Amino acid sequence: MTSGSKTAGEATRQIIDLEKTYLFQNYARYPLALKRGKGCWLYDLDGKRYLDLISGIGVNALGHAHPRITRVIRDQAAQLIHSSNLYYHEYQGRLAKKLAETSGLQRVFFCNSGTEAMEAAIKILHAHGKRTRPDKYEIVALENSFHGRTVGALALTGQPKYRADFEPLMPGVKHVNLCDEAAFEAAVTERTAGIVVETIQGEGGIYPISEQWLRKARALADTYDALLVFDEIQCGIGRPGTHFAYQLHEPAVMPDVVTMAKPIACGLPLGAVVANGKAASAIAPGMHGTTFGGGALACRVALEFYDILDEIMPQMRKVSAQLFDGLNELKRKYAMVKDVRGAGLMIGIEIEFPCKHFVAMGMEQGMLFNVTHETVVRLLPPYILSEKEADKALKGLARIFKKGKPAA
Ligand SMILES: Cc1ncc(COP(=O)(O)O)c(C=O)c1O
Repeated sequence: MTSGSKTAGEATRQIIDLEKTYLFQNYARYPLALKRGKGCWLYDLDGKRYLDLISGIGVNALGHAHPRITRVIRDQAAQLIHSSNLYYHEYQGRLAKKLAETSGLQRVFFCNSGTEAMEAAIKILHAHGKRTRPDKYEIVALENSFHGRTVGALALTGQPKYRADFEPLMPGVKHVNLCDEAAFEAAVTERTAGIVVETIQGEGGIYPISEQWLRKARALADTYDALLVFDEIQCGIGRPGTHFAYQLHEPAVMPDVVTMAKPIACGLPLGAVVANGKAASAIAPGMHGTTFGGGALACRVALEFYDILDEIMPQMRKVSAQLFDGLNELKRKYAMVKDVRGAGLMIGIEIEFPCKHFVAMGMEQGMLFNVTHETVVRLLPPYILSEKEADKALKGLARIFKKGKPAA
């Protein structure tokens, strides 16, 4: 297939050259230019198809060109895309009700991305602390976490490689090691305004935070009048097989604030902070806002997504069990597979050696996933992945594991 009179190879090269000349060189992209998608499949300029097991880093929950999402986008785009937060529209309140009901919390602030949701959460924590005492602004966060790239969210991020070039960042953040409960207890004091936990650490290598640890965090927050924030930007909204990862435990360990973004509007930028009454009341009129956040188009798409989510969740859980069973089988077969962990359709496969080369091996055979933390194959497939597609993914991964390490 050609793009104009060029071959697809030439067209891809031209796209890459143009970007190499005119874009910040902050991304290490794979040499693949995508043209379109349908369901769980993506197509490059050449028409070669790829099974999408990463869904735009956890965003395309309903895959690509979902007919109901496409229809709603067309319809809403022809009516009202954006009107700012100076006025009301039909969809913010309805979506906020859904988020409140499914999260078990009360009030919502809409923004446009994960990192913005974290910034709003930080402001809630600081405002909450300030109403008690002037030095109550400390935040306790976890090592190995990832919370975003803006200065506040980066200060919470517990991985020095993301922070080092930009320090000094926001002061007052203490990072504790997940294995060190005593250090956690010592870190939380009267000066702590909030504790921030990524309920399943994503960038850090797919580590679900244990129920015991979450309960400890809740208890410490209660003791010191700190607010407990769960970052569910990657692991939330259906991906763990429940609406939120903190609902995997019975009874759920309830946060005061939960942040979310990625899948909520199926690829349109939308983020949200949902909070209980106590946390939400820290933000009074004029204290926070955004121009774009909560636009009519993004909110209506998110409402449609929520309706579809309720219908597909049982099937999602079935496919998740199939993937976990199949991957555990591969773990028994290939010694290099050290661990398979995660929940729902957020899965990490720990390999005993750095395995970034697996990504190219996957692309070669028409499969897209990524590797995080050097050694963890990360799968974040669309929620609509079928049993047949899951089987294809397992067979593809088996071929990669069979080849294993490249010759030195
Ligand atoms: C857990 C978590 N928090 C925050 C963010 C930041 O979200 P965004 O890239 O939309 O700003 C991410 C992004 O990967 C994330 O995984």
